Amino acid sequence: MTQATIPGYRMGDPALPPSALDDEAFAKVCAALLLNEEDRQALREAKAIVEPHIEELLDVWYGFVGSHDFLLQYFSTPEGPNQEYLTRVRARFGQWVRDTLSADFGPAWRAYQAEVGRRHAASKNQTDGVRGAPEVVHFRYMVALVYPIYATIRPFLARGARDNEHLERMHQAWLKAVLLNLCLWSEAYVKDGWF
Ligand code: HEM
Repeated sequence: MTQATIPGYRMGDPALPPSALDDEAFAKVCAALLLNEEDRQALREAKAIVEPHIEELLDVWYGFVGSHDFLLQYFSTPEGPNQEYLTRVRARFGQWVRDTLSADFGPAWRAYQAEVGRRHAASKNQTDGVRGAPEVVHFRYMVALVYPIYATIRPFLARGARDNEHLERMHQAWLKAVLLNLCLWSEAYVKDGWF
């Protein structure tokens, strides 16, 4: 599926409200995360390695969610897991991996990440027209899921890493990038003035 045909994908849509973080505020978050130019380079190197295996990576992540009913319930209605919902989100999830590994971290990227945050919170279910699924992904799980998303990519990175130091550099850059996403997504969960 190409970017243009992924249902509900809105990166670059000028109608999206901007992220609360302007360039200066965003640069401070990157500084706090120790995310620098070297990390951006490492992410681009990771992209070349991971991209051919994104479906396999999604199988791992979906397997993880699917094997924990307290996570799967966020994709479920009283009738059970909503396969169409899972499938539509999966396509955007794959695109998110590509986007995270090649992000310019500019205003359009930041605005879409604020939207992805809302999609886990107040606008959950709207993009895919789902009825009867939980109305929010509870924030505690947003934080907790960072670890499996970080840990499980390592064997994929190892397939193309030049050596252990290269693997470590890409893996740490990935962790910073996922935390950066979560940081932007948290705008949707935090009360006004506290973000
Ligand atoms: C680090 C943690 C997480 C990452 C990286 C992540 C990633 C994503 C991405 C990329 C999307 C699609 C965004 C788009 O529409 O373009 C998405 C949507 C979604 N995620 Fe997460 N997610 C995380 C945590 C969770 C957790 C803990 C759950 C609970 C099972 C969850 C459930 C969902 C659901 C239900 C949607 C669809 C929301 C909607 O209705 O639009 N996510 N996630």
